[in-house]
Amino acid sequence: MFYPHPPAPPPSPPPPGGGPLRAGLTAGQKWLPPKWFYDADGSELFERITALPEYYPTRSEREVLATRAGDVAQLTGAHTLVELGSGSSEKTRLLLDAFTGHGTLEAFVPLDVSESALAEATAAISADYPKLDVRGVVGDFTQHLDRLPGGQPRVVAFLGGTIGNFLPAERAAFLRSVRDVLDEGEWLLLGTDLVKDAGVLERAYDDAAGVTAEFNRNVLRVINTRLGADFDPDAFEHVSYWDAENEWIEMRLRSRGWQTVEIPGAGLTVEFADGEHIRTEISAKFRPGGVEAELGSAGFAVERWWTDSQQRFGVSLARSVRG
Ligand code: AVJ
Repeated sequence: MFYPHPPAPPPSPPPPGGGPLRAGLTAGQKWLPPKWFYDADGSELFERITALPEYYPTRSEREVLATRAGDVAQLTGAHTLVELGSGSSEKTRLLLDAFTGHGTLEAFVPLDVSESALAEATAAISADYPKLDVRGVVGDFTQHLDRLPGGQPRVVAFLGGTIGNFLPAERAAFLRSVRDVLDEGEWLLLGTDLVKDAGVLERAYDDAAGVTAEFNRNVLRVINTRLGADFDPDAFEHVSYWDAENEWIEMRLRSRGWQTVEIPGAGLTVEFADGEHIRTEISAKFRPGGVEAELGSAGFAVERWWTDSQQRFGVSLARSVRG
């Protein structure tokens, strides 16, 4: 049987207002939202980053979870584990194993923007934890927390230090939005990378093998695919540096030469001057007191604070309280 290809759909009109990229690409200091890194290739590149010798956060956080997952299970007695920005859910297994031993957990709800990463993760977790109700939710954790099912009491895990991708005001709004979908007494398990030696931080975001550089440039490939743009990723150079004043790592792409890029799906034509930067990500680093204060303002009380043996990464377990 021969199935002809369906006719190509007409090009979709630019979204009203130019869509999610207009604000960033028409700003004086151009910027792009970090969630645009994560198509299937971007999620895979990030997985490769987590195995790099320079990129310590994944290993440091895993050390904390390996030793403390039992405490999380025991303290919370959760029936549902929600994971925001779950990616491959690899570290989550440490939590699932601990909860399996504890015997209260019924459901696992990973939420991720990458449908491919989510599909792989839910298939793998379902296979290995056959008694668990695994309900993947495709969504953006800044917009779709209302898609989370019940199953109280729940623990919402937001790991990896991804909270560092928000600017401080966005961070406050995000933490409040998590608090708002929880009932009083439900839990947040938050991973935060800590302020440390600038050299260690800078190497973690500029590895010798160049994987982070490819990950950074991948955002341009995603825009090409999704919006029919004509970025030449190789015409942009990976830049990252420690901003000591703001206490964050900033990643940028630097234009090699003058260029004009068409982004039909956003109704945009964008010019880049030679050497001009696009900010693609901030990755804020934290101090213990700061984490506690920010959680407190959002309506969470920190019940436990753990770090790895080198004090590189912090994990807090906080309970939602009134207010
Ligand atoms: C997935 C957001 C936690 O900020 O360290 C890794 C992403 N960017 N290398 C981070 C990232 C460059 C990562 N998070």
